[in-house]
Amino acid sequence: MSQNIIVSASILSADFGKIAEALQLCERSGIDRIHVDVMDGHFVPNITIGAVVTQAVRAYTKLPVATHLMIENPWDYVDAFADAGADIIIVHAECYGERRAACQVYGQYPKEVDVIDPGKILRDIRRIKAKGKQAGVTLNPGTPVTCLLPLLNDVDHILVMSVNPGFSGQKFMPSALDKIKWLRAQGFNKDIAVDGGVNAATAPGIVKAGANVLVTASYFFLSHDPKAVAEGLKSLVV
Ligand code: DX5
Ligand code: ZN
Repeated sequence: MSQNIIVSASILSADFGKIAEALQLCERSGIDRIHVDVMDGHFVPNITIGAVVTQAVRAYTKLPVATHLMIENPWDYVDAFADAGADIIIVHAECYGERRAACQVYGQYPKEVDVIDPGKILRDIRRIKAKGKQAGVTLNPGTPVTCLLPLLNDVDHILVMSVNPGFSGQKFMPSALDKIKWLRAQGFNKDIAVDGGVNAATAPGIVKAGANVLVTASYFFLSHDPKAVAEGLKSLVV
């Protein structure tokens, strides 16, 4: 099967003083989507940007905007990101189940769960869709992909984390590959994105495993030739 690879640029590695220029660079380079990493300093040990900046991003690009919500209580903010103009809203599975003992309190990372409450997350998936947006779900490297099984018919987009979230520029964790293969083996035929440590060395294996969306922050934005980076990733074939 041959399919087009979608490259999604995470602005986390862009110059925040020149966001409009960064978005123009993405468009010039053939990037397909913009990935906005929203962090609250609670779900992850970093604070980045919220709906206000997402609205500005929306205003300065025609590309679809995906918001990756690394925040506690995402249901409180889904409407705000939808109203800010996000096209894809991605929530973390770890917000819908009991946290493992090692990460139950503030300051213990990464957040991980073994099972999630399908009814609770399906409510938010439907809420995102009711706003006319694509509903995405993501999971941290330590959370088993099997917990997504009850959602596969309803979710539009699955983002497999290949680093523990919080920062760009981390090393790719190969455990993501088995998760992608498992999702495809279940017959999931919508977007599977991979986020964290995507580069020339890791991307071919990610695509071979069955992912069709590559998210990149540092590899693209810190490159001397971002256009060549985008073209290289887009040229990969399943
Ligand atoms: C990590 C973020 C990623 C990150 C990717 O918490 O969710 O989107 O920006 O950065 P790179 O591509 O540099 O690994
Ligand atoms: Zn991300």
